[in-house]
Parts: sequence; C-alpha cells; structure tokens
Amino acid sequence: MNGKYNASKLALGLIKDGMTIGIGSGSTVEVFLNLLGERIKREGLRIYGIPSSYQSMLAGLKNGIILTDLVEREPDICIDGADQVDSRLNCIKGGGAALTREKILAIASKKVLILVDKSKLVEKLSMPVPVEVLPFAYGYVVKKLSSICKPKLREGKGKVGPIITDNGNFILDCDFGVIENPEAVEKELRSIAGVVENGIFLSELIDAVIVGGDYSAEIIKK
Ligand code: A5P
Repeated sequence: MNGKYNASKLALGLIKDGMTIGIGSGSTVEVFLNLLGERIKREGLRIYGIPSSYQSMLAGLKNGIILTDLVEREPDICIDGADQVDSRLNCIKGGGAALTREKILAIASKKVLILVDKSKLVEKLSMPVPVEVLPFAYGYVVKKLSSICKPKLREGKGKVGPIITDNGNFILDCDFGVIENPEAVEKELRSIAGVVENGIFLSELIDAVIVGGDYSAEIIKK
C-alpha cells in the first residue's frame, strides 16, 4: 500500500488547476484519486477527468472531479497503473479488464504517466497478456491464439461464466511465457480479427513511470 501511496503522492504534484486527466483504472489510480480529491477540496481546484471504467468514473465523482469525455476535451495527462513494467518501460495492463479504454486514453493524452509500486518492476514482461475479445469472435480468436500462446477465458468472481468488460466483451488471459519481443507480440495480437485490444502498452506510449517504494518514490523516464 505504501508504494502505491508514495507513487501517487509524487504524481499529485504534477496536477495543475484546470487540467484534464485521462483516468486509468485499478487500486493505484484509486489511491491517486483519493489524494487528488483532498487537494481539490483544500485548494478549490477545477480538475476535469475522462474515466476508463465504471470504477474510475465512480472514484472520480466521489473525489470532486468534473467528468467529461473525448468529444469535449483532450487529456493533458493520463494517469494509470500497470500490472508489470519491464526495464524498457513496456507495460502489461488489464488486470482490471479496463485495457481498451485505458489504451485509447493513453494514445489520446498529451502525456502518459504510469504509477506502480516497486513489486511491478520486472526485467522482461512475463505475465499472461489480457486480450479483450468480441464475444461473437470468441471461437475463432481462441483458435488463432492457441497457435501462439495459451489463452484462458477470464471467469468472474461473484458471477458464473466469463467476466464481461465495461464494453460488453470477454477477456482472454494469454500466456506467452517470457516475452522477448513485446513489439512483435503486440502487433500479432492486433492483427487478429475479433481482438478489440490487447494489454501490451509499448514504451513508445509512455512518458514516465513513477515507482513507489516503502518510504519514497522516483520518476523513471525513457
Ligand atoms: C486495469 O485494467 C489495469 O490495467 C490496471 O491499471 C492495472 O491492473 C493495475 O492495477 P492496480 O493498480 O490495482 O495494481
């Protein structure tokens, strides 16, 4: 928890009155939003936010962020968490199944900042890559994926059967083992009809990662 808190605290200093934030999802983003909410109250800031999920929409509302969308505003900064970050700042995201809107917000934002506690740092990406799939294409996509990785349909907790994303789709967690070439895997996943988005966020998308430890945090830039 301290790592998430320390990373969020450092990121908070980068937020200025009137900014629009692309709001990622997950527990780290929630810690950040709670801290931002305290600043909004204390300093009377007007902060606009475009949420990537119902979770971040509700957390944004609770913390006094003015919700908006990509029609009205271009995000000045995207703040998000990650599940793994490699030594070149490539990330795997989508543990909360919000990867599609998160990637759109990252691409649409002027700057992208990823907040993680130090447990997320790895030399090479190796966890299963979440892939959002149109339910209609599920059978085809599983067949295609099975020739390059081990895909597993993500099941719900508190619900039988597959989880359904905020966009009405399935998630396949795709085990590639250690990923030596994230660019190639990302490109291959993107090329499969019926794949809506994949959880590899290449470092070209990311401006900086803030890594929180037990007592402090540091910014890693490319
Ligand atoms: C949501 O789909 C994810 O991409 C999250 O950003 C990622 O799983 C990090 O979540 P935590 O901050 O809860 O670890």
